[in-house]
Amino acid sequence: MALTPESASTTPLHNPSNFSAALGLPYLGDYPRTYTHEGGFPAGFVWGSGTAAYQIEGAWNEGGRGPSIWDDFSGAGGPAHEAMVKVGAIAGGGGNHSGAVACDHYHRYREDVQLMASLGLRHYRFSLSWPRILPNGTLAGGVNEEGAAFYDALIDALIAAKIEPFVTLYHWDLPSALQTAASPGWLSAGTVRHFEDFARLCFERWGGKVRRWVTFNEPWTFTAPGKPYADVRTGPYLAGHNVLLAHAAAVRAFRETAAASGGAIGITNNIDWREPLTAAPEDVAAAERAREWWLAWFCDPIWRGDYPPSMRASLGERLPTFTPSELESLQGLNHYGSSFVVAQPNGKHYGKHYGEGNGESYWRDYEALALHSEEMKEEAAASAWLYSVPWGLRKLLSWVKRRYGNPPLYVTENGWSTPGNDSASSAQVADGSRVRFLANYTSELRRAIYEDGVDVRGYYAWSLLDNFEWEMGYSERFGLVYTDYATQRRHPKASARWL
Ligand code: NOJ
Repeated sequence: MALTPESASTTPLHNPSNFSAALGLPYLGDYPRTYTHEGGFPAGFVWGSGTAAYQIEGAWNEGGRGPSIWDDFSGAGGPAHEAMVKVGAIAGGGGNHSGAVACDHYHRYREDVQLMASLGLRHYRFSLSWPRILPNGTLAGGVNEEGAAFYDALIDALIAAKIEPFVTLYHWDLPSALQTAASPGWLSAGTVRHFEDFARLCFERWGGKVRRWVTFNEPWTFTAPGKPYADVRTGPYLAGHNVLLAHAAAVRAFRETAAASGGAIGITNNIDWREPLTAAPEDVAAAERAREWWLAWFCDPIWRGDYPPSMRASLGERLPTFTPSELESLQGLNHYGSSFVVAQPNGKHYGKHYGEGNGESYWRDYEALALHSEEMKEEAAASAWLYSVPWGLRKLLSWVKRRYGNPPLYVTENGWSTPGNDSASSAQVADGSRVRFLANYTSELRRAIYEDGVDVRGYYAWSLLDNFEWEMGYSERFGLVYTDYATQRRHPKASARWL
C-alpha cells in the first residue's frame, strides 16, 4: 500500500490481530480491488435517487420565498460569491449565480417527474425549503401558501407517476431571519422551537401522502467543520446539541400527528470510513475516536442515550448535557469516501479547508489525521475529498450494526462527481467512472446485507441531476442526469440507465 509522503515511515496495516478483527469487521487489512457485480438484493429493497431544495429549485425570490443563509453566503454580494466566481465554481450568464436558478426545478418539476418516470425511478428523496414555506422562518411570520402549494403539486405529481416521495425537512437552507445577532441559527434555542413548528406544519400538510421522513441531513457537516464560531471551544458542540434537540422535538411532533400512522421518521447522518493506517494501538484508537467524533456524536444520543464516552471525557463541560429521549429507529447514512487515520494528538487536524487556523476547534479536539493511499488516489473524483473506496461502505455498515444493534438502515446518499466544465458530449454522458463507483459500492452493500447480516432496506444514489454543489458551485457534477445550465436541458447519463 503506497501512502502519501507525510506518512511514508508508518507500517502498513496487514496484521491479522488488527482492529477489524477485534471488532469483527470485514477485511483484515486486505482490501478487495475488483468486483464481479453479481447477485440480487432482497425483495422490496428500495432503489432511489435524491436531491435537495437549494441545490435544484432556483426561483430564489419567486412565489413568496424568503431568503436563506445560502442566498446570503453565495448570492451576489454574499461573502463567498466573488471568490466562487474567481475559481470558476459558479456558472456565468443567465443570472445563474449561487442557487438562484440552479436546475430551475421550481418551474420544471413536472418534466423532472416525467424524466424520473422514464428512467424507471420508483423512490425519490428531496427536501422542503423552509424559507419557501415560512419566509421568515416562523409560524408567526405567516405561511407562504404559494410555496406550500408548490410542494402539494410536486408530491401529487410524484404519486401520480408511482414514485414514492421521501422527504427531508432540513437540507441546510436555514431562513436568513433565523441567522442574526439576536438569533444565531443553530446556536439559538429559538431555532429549535421554530424548527419544531415547521416540522409539525409539514407533517400536518403532507403526512397523509408522505410516509418516509428525515428531519436533518448531515448534522455533522453543518455544525462541525470550519464554521466561524465566535467561541470555537463550544460552538460546534452547542450547535450539534440544538440540532439533536430539534430532531427529538420533530419526532415527538410526528407522533402527535396522523403522519405517524403507517409512516416512519429518522435522521440522515454522514461519515467517511476511517481505517487505522497501522496496527499500532494509538492509530487503532485514533480511527475509532474519529468515527465516534463524527458519526457517533449524532447517533449515540439517539440510539444509546448519551454522547460517546470519548467525547465526554475530552470535552468535559464544553459538551452540553443531553436528556435522553427514546427516538425513532429509521437511520439514514450518507457515505462517499474513506481514508486511513493516524493518531495526531497535537498536530495538524485535518486539512486546510476545515478550520485550520481556528485555534482550538473541533479538529483539534478530534486528534486524528486522515490520509489517502496512492491506491485510493487511483480513482479520484472531481471533488477533492472523494476517492472510490467501496470496501469502506461495507466496514461502515458493519460498524453501525454492531454499535447500534442492527437498526434498519437506508443509504440515503452515495455518489460520484465529475468535472463541472464537461459538456453534454457523449463522453460526459458515458460516465464510466460513476457507473464503476455505483456498481462497486453496491457490490459491497450486497455483501454487507448477505454476508454480515446488516439490515439495509434501501439505497439512494446522489444525485438525480447535476446541481449546485454548495461552496463548489457548479464546478462539480454529481448527477445521474446531465444538466445543461444554459438551456436547462437534461441528458440522462449511462449511470442513470445502469441504476
Ligand atoms: C452530501 C450532501 O447532503 C449533498 O447536498 C451534497 O451535494 C453531497 N454530499 C455531495 O457533496
